[in-house]
Amino acid sequence: MNKKIKIFDTTLRDGEQSPGCSMNLKEKVQMAKQLERMQVDIIEAGFAISSPGDFTSVRTVAETIKESVVASLARTTKEDIDRAWEAVSVAAQPRIHTFIATSPIHMEYKLNLTPDQVVEQAAAMVKYAKKYCGDIEFSAEDATRSDPAFLARIFSEVIKAGATTINIPDTVGYTTPDEFYDFLIKIRELCPPLDHVDISVHCHNDLGLGVANSLAAIKAGAVQVETTINGIGERAGNAAMEELVMALATRRDIYKAETNIITTEIMRASKLLTTITGVKVQPNKAIVGENAFAHEAGIHQHGVLKNKETYEIMTPESVGLTKNSMVLGKHSGKHALRSKAKELGFDLTEEALERAFNKFKEIADKKKRIYDGDIEALLSKEALQVPRTYQMKSFVINSGNSITSTAVVEVIKEDKTIEKVARGDGPIDAAFQAIGKIVGRNLKLEDYQLHSVSEGIDALGDAFVKITSNGKSYAGRGLSTDVIEASIHAYVNAVNKMIYEENKTNGV
Ligand code: KIV
Ligand code: ZN
Repeated sequence: MNKKIKIFDTTLRDGEQSPGCSMNLKEKVQMAKQLERMQVDIIEAGFAISSPGDFTSVRTVAETIKESVVASLARTTKEDIDRAWEAVSVAAQPRIHTFIATSPIHMEYKLNLTPDQVVEQAAAMVKYAKKYCGDIEFSAEDATRSDPAFLARIFSEVIKAGATTINIPDTVGYTTPDEFYDFLIKIRELCPPLDHVDISVHCHNDLGLGVANSLAAIKAGAVQVETTINGIGERAGNAAMEELVMALATRRDIYKAETNIITTEIMRASKLLTTITGVKVQPNKAIVGENAFAHEAGIHQHGVLKNKETYEIMTPESVGLTKNSMVLGKHSGKHALRSKAKELGFDLTEEALERAFNKFKEIADKKKRIYDGDIEALLSKEALQVPRTYQMKSFVINSGNSITSTAVVEVIKEDKTIEKVARGDGPIDAAFQAIGKIVGRNLKLEDYQLHSVSEGIDALGDAFVKITSNGKSYAGRGLSTDVIEASIHAYVNAVNKMIYEENKTNGV
């Protein structure tokens, strides 16, 4: 019988804290729902004490998710554990994940604690957390640069205090597969109580070995692996979930292990994350990259046409990759859009579906062919919609190569029309300056991207905007066959997300 490997996903915690990957509340909830849909065993929803916004997100994810365990990270202090429990106690299956560093360099320079103090604090805080929650994970930060005998000692103490999962992270991405395998076998020998709890690993990717190290750990007895979608995370990221899951599924003959993950949901999870963060995966990225299943060389194409297995070790369908087929047209009704939304896994309110349908009709009038990708872009935008404090009403742009661009933008706020004029460095900048004047705040443009969703001259433009205000980033998206209109929608969407997020954090 194959052994079962639990997937602990930390996209919303370790992933989210990496540069450019921040998400707002609504986005985290959508991402968590997708993780639940793909049957992730444990979702680490955030680090509750780190900010009021993080606390609200962990708590909302905990309220929403029913099938997966929901965890919050906490340092080994009472304040952290209290806050983590306050956030996850509402979950159907809560977990407190507490950690302290165990390597000599971290204990001396970061914690300023002796090894004895670290053991004492870890055991006391696991015991404290256990009063709240049966499911306690303990992590020894920087474990791979720690003394195995010291790890065995601290693990014995925290297991005695009630830890049910022991996580052994390669925090700095330093180890290698052979070394990690031997290291884990040694710790297991030195610490027999590990046989009675779940052994977990959490591998960073600084040497590009995150997945390889996790696979070696499975061979050494790990039954939980911590991953992120698209491998996002601190520095070079974390082990990528899609790679680990597909390696186990494809090489079951070697690992004799399997996960609960519905692999056909992988592509959707990857795309949703890209849509939310604007952080694209490289085209040649394993499993989810644009070229992962493309066969360019003639000799390869020839082979694949005759027998797919000549060059394909797994099928595109197994990771949820479908052809960009033409699906709906100008004459399709709301019912067809609703069933398409269902088929694509979007969980939309009636109001969001209505908005998506109106937009769909608008696009169908301008565009000859509507592809799956267009519908997916439209639906994912509506699924992530926040209250529309500002709505774009109209715009006029005056631009050329011998004049300074000018934009007149009209928006509606609480039934009132507000109009502002601004000049800028090109039409997009002018339009963004005009919106900035309307909002009356100092907004900094951090990122702006424009892509076409499908092919052809009438392709849908998908604009992505990231703005910063008071040190926080907010991302927005806009879709239109007109790229300036898409960009204005994206900017207004980012402003609305900023207002929504600020209101939520202030309890408005
Ligand atoms: O990399 C790490 O060590 C972590 C721990 C908090 C699990 O993220
Ligand atoms: Zn980490």
